Amino acid sequence: EKGGYKHFMLKEIMEQPRAIEDTIRGRINVSEADVVPEEIGISVALAKSITRVYFVACGTSAHAAMAGRYWVEQLAKLPSTVEIGSEVRYREPVFTPTDLVVAVSQSGETADTLAAVKAAKAQGAHVLAVANVLDSAIPRASEGALYTHAGPEIGVASTKCFTTQLAALLMLAVYLGRRRGTLVQDEARRVLGGLLRGAHDMRTVLEQKDKIQFIAKKFHRSRDMLFLGRGTGFPIALEGALKLKEISYIHAEGYAAGEMKHGPIALIDEEMPVVVLCPKDAHYEKTVSNLEEVRAREGIVIAVCTQGDAEVARLVTPSISQIPSRSPRQSFALSEPDVVEIPEVEPEILPLLTVVPLQLLAYYIADYKGTDVDQPRNLAKTVTVE
Ligand code: F6R
Repeated sequence: EKGGYKHFMLKEIMEQPRAIEDTIRGRINVSEADVVPEEIGISVALAKSITRVYFVACGTSAHAAMAGRYWVEQLAKLPSTVEIGSEVRYREPVFTPTDLVVAVSQSGETADTLAAVKAAKAQGAHVLAVANVLDSAIPRASEGALYTHAGPEIGVASTKCFTTQLAALLMLAVYLGRRRGTLVQDEARRVLGGLLRGAHDMRTVLEQKDKIQFIAKKFHRSRDMLFLGRGTGFPIALEGALKLKEISYIHAEGYAAGEMKHGPIALIDEEMPVVVLCPKDAHYEKTVSNLEEVRAREGIVIAVCTQGDAEVARLVTPSISQIPSRSPRQSFALSEPDVVEIPEVEPEILPLLTVVPLQLLAYYIADYKGTDVDQPRNLAKTVTVE
């Protein structure tokens, strides 16, 4: 049932291109450059009248929601926020009848997210569920449901559900933008075209799994790891850190790259790998300057960058003092820059691709450590208690 893979998690990581294809199939009208209304679960009238999008979710699903927020702001020009289910529940949140609450939950059963949905409904807000499990509690409590079609996810650490959530939320943002007149057809065509090619691009990233395994082997004894990203790279940095801690038990933190100098830079030394997401997007120059700051302190960098980025490869190459000199053969390999390249894609597609090396890195590190990858200690696949 693991399809020849050692763990469900690896199988599910490898299944992602297919899961993305299944999630977008039939939902995009290519000639109109639009998302098909019946598939979205929100009426055209509602799409026009809402004044805020309020995402609620927990864990990995909250990271997908954070990317969704950037897209809703950018494409639909709607004020948008992301709140953690457990916090909404115990605050005194204020909802209005022109709020669209988007509850993102793979299982559709997470107690805290469900409680937030009920609180929102009680105040008259509209609720849309983005879920993977058909007819689960959160879709049932919502007015509409946009299902991801990832198929059953067995590994406790969420992978293919996450990337399909990203695809669904990007479609939602395009749908809202088109209805609200904030997204012109050419722009929608650009974004949706990128999404339609996303599965293919993701396969290119998955082809580098042996290289990522090699990087994992080098760093699986690390005690801590830091992940940095900007824009939609920020939620991906958070997701990379979460994946690593939950399955390898290595302490990891994700940070907005711009926050580096507000604290975490103090942690940089020659022992803690820093994973920097620096694809060629609007934030490239700034993030590369963060990378340089890490290197200036003899920090170790693992970079996820755009194919053929010689500048990042040069910056990431370890200095002589960082190359262990045990065996000449080994030291040659160890002096290779730890860079994973992703294809050049539309900026909106980047998070779907940059998360893949981070999932694989966490997976291989955990496997080298010999942890129970599919059933990490203390964790449950569905959290139906608060
Ligand atoms: C992490 C993970 C959890 C879930 C969280 C929410 O890999 O799986 O953080 O994302 O428990 O679960 P759902 O999406 O079912 O509401």
